[in-house]
Amino acid sequence: MLEEVLEYLDPKLGENFIDCTLGGGGYSKAILERIGKKGKLISIDLDKLAINNFLEKYQRYSNIYLVEDNFINLKSIVQKFRTEFNLNNRFLFDGIVLDLGLSSAHLDDKQRGISFQNDANLDMRFGDTIDENKTKEIINNYNQKDLEEVIFNYGEERWAKRIAEFIVKRRKEQKICTVFQLLKIIKEAIPPKFHNKKIHFATKTFQALRIATNMELENLKKVLPQAVEWLKKGGKLAVVSYHSLEDRIVKNFFRKESSNCICSKEVYFCTCQHEKKIRLINKKVIKPSFQEIKDNFRSRSAKLRVVEHI
Ligand SMILES: C[S@@+](CC[C@H](N)C(=O)[O-])C[C@H]1O[C@@H](n2cnc3c(N)ncnc32)[C@H](O)[C@@H]1O
Repeated sequence: MLEEVLEYLDPKLGENFIDCTLGGGGYSKAILERIGKKGKLISIDLDKLAINNFLEKYQRYSNIYLVEDNFINLKSIVQKFRTEFNLNNRFLFDGIVLDLGLSSAHLDDKQRGISFQNDANLDMRFGDTIDENKTKEIINNYNQKDLEEVIFNYGEERWAKRIAEFIVKRRKEQKICTVFQLLKIIKEAIPPKFHNKKIHFATKTFQALRIATNMELENLKKVLPQAVEWLKKGGKLAVVSYHSLEDRIVKNFFRKESSNCICSKEVYFCTCQHEKKIRLINKKVIKPSFQEIKDNFRSRSAKLRVVEHI
């Protein structure tokens, strides 16, 4: 969604931006090209590799501040750059972008358990700040009901109940520690005639466990209000999500913050005194072009929403 994000954020020479999800650095690089040497960019990623790769590839940029951290710490991250941004107590940005989820580097990394193409330690963390046993803890320690809920809610997997049941049965025999162990269990749990030809039978379960490991939905809820606070009047926030639950969080937050009243519908008179902070730029969600989906199949589920600080 790079083209669409750039169209809406419209970075100009000398402006200041935040890329909360550096990943492969495509968005950051495009923003840097547009803001020129006088503009500044803070780029964040939980993953040390994303930071190191960017540093290695693009040494020519001196106006990017790379931060290995969780974007839920946006407030304190930005405060660290008080002097660099030379903006007294308020740091006001022209645009902020969040391109959620995992990067293609995560899928290609054979050491991580995020992809099920290779056997690896079941470790689906985006970064080292998360407990290294988190994925294994979910699989081996959650009770059956909680496991089912994770797989059903975050993976929208219709076989969640059976998969959870099989995991609990198998882990009594042996702790589940590797990608191929889990893959075998999911394969057993889903009857062969329901092994979908379009998506691999393990896709949804792996997605669910990744989302739970990295607390992706909780993090999104925490970062959105902070992002809005850092925008200047007219500054824009663009969020690209890949999961209906993520999109719902973004949609509801944007709806609430673009409204002057958040009282429940049963109330006759407004008592909330809520003041709107943002304006919706696109009322309907923006989806990738046919060409982008053709070039990058993962983008098929992308949804972009943009707001402007008022
Ligand atoms: C879809 S990729 C971003 C791709 C990027 N826009 C590009 O141009 O390559 C998402 C990135 O966000 C990072 N990420 C996910 N959750 C994060 C969080 N809570 N804090 C910081 N980074 C996070 C992931 O590690 C991943 O590298």
